[in-house]
Amino acid sequence: MTNTLSIPQSVQWKDDHILLLDQQLLPHETTYLELRTIQDVWNAIVSLKVRGAPAIGITAGFGLALAAQNYDCETLQEFIEKLTKDRDYLAGSRPTAINLFWALNRLTNSISNAKSINGAVTTLIHEAIQIQLEDEDVCKQIGEHALSLFKNGDKILTICNAGSIATAKYGTALSPFYLAKERGIKLEIYASETRPVLQGARLTTWELMQADIDVTLITDSMAAHTIATKGINAIIVGADRITANGDVANKIGTYNLAILANAFQIPFYVAAPLSTFDPTLSSGQEIPIEERDSKEITHLNGQQIAPTGVKVFNPAFDVTPNELVTAIITEKGIIDSDYSRHISLLFNK
Ligand code: MRU
Repeated sequence: MTNTLSIPQSVQWKDDHILLLDQQLLPHETTYLELRTIQDVWNAIVSLKVRGAPAIGITAGFGLALAAQNYDCETLQEFIEKLTKDRDYLAGSRPTAINLFWALNRLTNSISNAKSINGAVTTLIHEAIQIQLEDEDVCKQIGEHALSLFKNGDKILTICNAGSIATAKYGTALSPFYLAKERGIKLEIYASETRPVLQGARLTTWELMQADIDVTLITDSMAAHTIATKGINAIIVGADRITANGDVANKIGTYNLAILANAFQIPFYVAAPLSTFDPTLSSGQEIPIEERDSKEITHLNGQQIAPTGVKVFNPAFDVTPNELVTAIITEKGIIDSDYSRHISLLFNK
């Protein structure tokens, strides 16, 4: 993929701070924040200034490296104790996307043979940068595999934002759209707004429009009608965690789309890197599902719309059972049946 398209990036390592695109202000303001402390990083993740499973992992990795380089420690043991405490602190920011824990553990594991504090800091920074570099590469590969499933003229529905700003670059579910654009393959994308915090309406449309990709916004409740009347050929989504049996946690509303895909007999694809798999969990029922502030539902743009005191249920994710998933697209290729066996092969060789 060349750089002729405008493809935004959300996280940058700047040695003494992290430069972060504030995704809460998009699409109206393109503001970059300077995160200088581990508390800044925790707050940015909790408040969705950075969101999307791989981008959360990348930011947390940078956050841990940033904190570690400022420790004032006498011994390596003291350094490791502080690092473990900070890792646990960042791990408490959001519960569902496994990439957060994957990245943090990758950093702490990287210094298991460290001989000095300086050596450990250098290794941590290197590992954090490596995670971002690898993710960019992985997303390109996912795009290549995913594009093989689409043809010129296809109309494709997606939800939330599994795009460039949710990853190092290119995205997962949106990666094939960038590739298609570059190669002159015409795809028509339909973006579901994604209540309650509108990652589809605010982020996916913004991102794709930057690259002049054909995108049409719908509300979540318009999905069935849109599939029926616009001739949607396929649905593709990202993931926050995929269990050993192929169950998929992703943004709330994904499960609805999988049921619709099944009803309309169109393929339902999940695009995700191996860092989003959790082979330690046997099924999606074991995935912790984040519940967020009721204000995300009771208020719109700071304006209260529901009665004061109304009971609210606000899960941020749902779990799509594997039998509704036509195929999972990873950097290693496409798996399309017998998920337990394929996932075990991916992780046990
Ligand atoms: O709450 P969010 O915005 O972090 O949820 C994001 C999603 O559900 C994405 O689809 C998922 O993380 C994949 S990002 C490549």
